[in-house]
Amino acid sequence: MAYYLGIDIGTSAVKTILVDANENIVARAETAYGIERPHPLWAEQDARIWSHAVRHTVHMIRDAAPHALSATQGIGLSGQMHAAVVLDRDDQPLRPAMLWNDGRSKDEACWLHAHHPGLAEETGVLPMPGFTASKLVWLQRHEPDIFRKIRYVLPAKDLVRLELTGERLTDPCDGAGMGMLNEAKRQWSTTVLEAIGLDASVLPELVEGTQAAGQVSKQAAAEWGLPEGIVVAAGAGDCAAGAIGAGMTEEGAAFVSLGTGVLMFCPTCDYRPHIASLIHAFCHAVPERWFQMAAMLNGGSVLEYITTLTGSSPAQAAAALETHYRGPGNVTMLPYLNGERTPHNNPLAKGVLFGLTPQTNALDLAQAAMEAVAYTLADGLRCLEEAGTAIPGVALVGGGAKSRIWAHIIAAVMKRPVTRFSGGETGPAFGAARLARMAHTGESVQTVCTAPPVLDIVEPKLEHAEAYEERLAQFRRLYSALAAEFSLSPVS
Ligand code: XUL
Repeated sequence: MAYYLGIDIGTSAVKTILVDANENIVARAETAYGIERPHPLWAEQDARIWSHAVRHTVHMIRDAAPHALSATQGIGLSGQMHAAVVLDRDDQPLRPAMLWNDGRSKDEACWLHAHHPGLAEETGVLPMPGFTASKLVWLQRHEPDIFRKIRYVLPAKDLVRLELTGERLTDPCDGAGMGMLNEAKRQWSTTVLEAIGLDASVLPELVEGTQAAGQVSKQAAAEWGLPEGIVVAAGAGDCAAGAIGAGMTEEGAAFVSLGTGVLMFCPTCDYRPHIASLIHAFCHAVPERWFQMAAMLNGGSVLEYITTLTGSSPAQAAAALETHYRGPGNVTMLPYLNGERTPHNNPLAKGVLFGLTPQTNALDLAQAAMEAVAYTLADGLRCLEEAGTAIPGVALVGGGAKSRIWAHIIAAVMKRPVTRFSGGETGPAFGAARLARMAHTGESVQTVCTAPPVLDIVEPKLEHAEAYEERLAQFRRLYSALAAEFSLSPVS
């Protein structure tokens, strides 16, 4: 029996799974790490922790399933997108990686747009501070010594590939996330390279996500406990790898991934940018497919934040709300703890709790956090519809999908049915394992990327949907009223 390893180099952890040819999960392992925030708006990680963590998960899998691991035929990589990993000529990181939720390069993103107005149309979205391109301009202005030493720039997962295979390669989806790709051509954009003042040789070669992009080297095989010479698929950024895991490759599908952040993702059969709406139009993980995505930075992390403050946990709060939910709560929250991308493109936006009274309790705050995420999804839905994409219903994947009450709130706020999947895996690591399988067997996307079995379809409850209309309008008014204040308030 053939086995495939799917590795997701996430923001808070590496998640690795070993899958057999029937898509049973044979073993799984996770190793967590933190984010450094040395200054306001900064979010960084020492890039070396990723391969340590990957190695650790592979060793755990070797302990749990040694025979299956030794029969592994392919590896797929997925990872957090948009990071700036800058390397010197010896492939050593020149500084900590700047992550997707790092908002420091706001001015540089504005500069890129002002001086190169055609860039957005070419790269699928307005230049934003979270993207690699803006961070490279920031380095040029604020850390010129480091900028001068840059020989290579890689997405996060591809630093792990470099250690596994010795190859500097990436896929068009992660390339898109760098804000440096000509999306229509699926090639690096010379406009962006010229704007930043970097030579094309700093960027990795592009290989489609389903194709082989390196083989495990002799040295890595010995150190990591993997079979030598097995194929490493090009893989994909985590949002598209998640789509592969959930079987979302064809136009008409739509899913919400509710993890640390939250996004709404719609595959398209051609490149369909819509700059005004702030949706992202990027290359998908499979050839000849793109996607439109509303990307919001504040998802499960907001509920995590509130429940940590109140001495509870997201799972406890969700369980309590299952019993106590009676319709929209009395507190309206703006969830922008990390700033926001769609629909505001505002790294300075902040979290706000509105409507507190002496009666407000911890569960009210948890409900407000869940509702706030649902409101941002309604904003995302509006942007995607403005971009011409009809979304009659969505599937819900990621950690948030475990909560039926959260699915209920999302369905009521968006006035759309929400489908949840049962049992099997849907996450980016599973999608990465599917990409590994396609790279190894050459099977078609249609054969491999099937949708998981349905657990339930949560229909919007009419009375709640109506009641949420006014709350959503208030949520939007609150942001408009406070937008200027966010820019004025101290950054901390
Ligand atoms: C997508 C996005 C997230 C990150 C972190 O645009 O920002 O999916 O990759 O997971």
